[in-house]
Amino acid sequence: MLAGKRVLLIIGGGIAAFKSLDLIRRLRERGATVTPVLTKAAEEFVTPLSTSALAGQKVFRDLFDLTDEAEMGHIELSRSADLVVVAPATADLMAKMAGGHANDLASTILMATDKRVLIAPAMNVRMWEHAATQRNIETLKGDAILFVGPDEGEMACGEHGPGRMAEPLAIVDAVEAALSSGPLKGKHVLVTSGPTHEPIDPVRYIANRSSGAQGTAIARSLSALGAHVTFVTGPADVAPPPGVSVRSVQTAQQMLDAVNSALPADAAVFAAAVADWRVASASDSKIKKGDKGTPTLEFAENPDILATVSQLESGRPQLVVGFAAETDDVLAHASAKRDRKGCDWIIANDVSPETGIMGGTENAVTLISAEGHEEWPRMTKARVAERIAARIAEALK
Ligand code: C5P
Repeated sequence: MLAGKRVLLIIGGGIAAFKSLDLIRRLRERGATVTPVLTKAAEEFVTPLSTSALAGQKVFRDLFDLTDEAEMGHIELSRSADLVVVAPATADLMAKMAGGHANDLASTILMATDKRVLIAPAMNVRMWEHAATQRNIETLKGDAILFVGPDEGEMACGEHGPGRMAEPLAIVDAVEAALSSGPLKGKHVLVTSGPTHEPIDPVRYIANRSSGAQGTAIARSLSALGAHVTFVTGPADVAPPPGVSVRSVQTAQQMLDAVNSALPADAAVFAAAVADWRVASASDSKIKKGDKGTPTLEFAENPDILATVSQLESGRPQLVVGFAAETDDVLAHASAKRDRKGCDWIIANDVSPETGIMGGTENAVTLISAEGHEEWPRMTKARVAERIAARIAEALK
């Protein structure tokens, strides 16, 4: 529910702007007040009249509208909301945000706001994939801008691929996650998830098996309890949850860098299946079959991210949680791992093939802490995530 919440909705100029009218309706159905801002280009797609009729509010359009400046200046407008949402976020708006431009009402609000900003990108697939947009995405993620979508599929321009704006209900979910006021409100929690890919050459890599399902579920549950979640993910099978700050990485070293740059955090959950080794000197070009017989790979040890963060002398999160996926003697191995790495909790699970846990929807875990161990009954990964998030909330009280 969004009762009493104020959303400042910036509508960019793209064909997906028509979906933003439905978004206004959906947000209001849940009790939010929506103040719309239209860019000049947006007015080519939706009219100020229809937008204001649906919002039940005045539409803001011009930076230099003196009446608005007298009634409510752009600075105040940018701060009066609980959340700023940009939908659709066009390539141009994203470039302005990444570059720090402030030459119209929308971009000025985005520069002046002290509130969190959630964007729903929408653009042609080539524009989305363009190196400039990809650079801007990284910059915006680094600025803790929240993303929802884009979805993949048929586009208005007839092309296919990523670039469709997320559906209004998915945006509403992301808004709810960003605004939730649970016991973790005001807390920053870092979550690593998914595998890492360590290149052998440009086309081959070594990796651990990991769908990213458990880490994603944990990030979703923490976010639902109101935490600001930084979600550092390797190339996983499942999409990141809405409403979290996503940092996508490939290798263990990149994951460590992303974790370091996301600190400080109140708690950190290391659910990623990080490759223990990388190829010592990955080849810049594809290793050809039959050139010099079977290649011999030499490995170098990857940094242990969990151990590194657990053993930080300053800036260590108050609570550090690691995972231990074992196939035998689970409790003994996991307890030893907790001591060795220096984390507070270890969530241990048996991933022997007969358990069906790896890649499945259920998990059976044991929580190991300084106080001892607790065996939890087998339940869905979503439920395990909820319990872990609830315990983290308890510990951070
Ligand atoms: O040593 P092992 O891989 O079994 O430890 C598992 C735990 O350590 C998990 O929480 C995993 O995310 C974390 N880990 C890490 N960096 C590594 C290896 C494991 O953060 N290089």
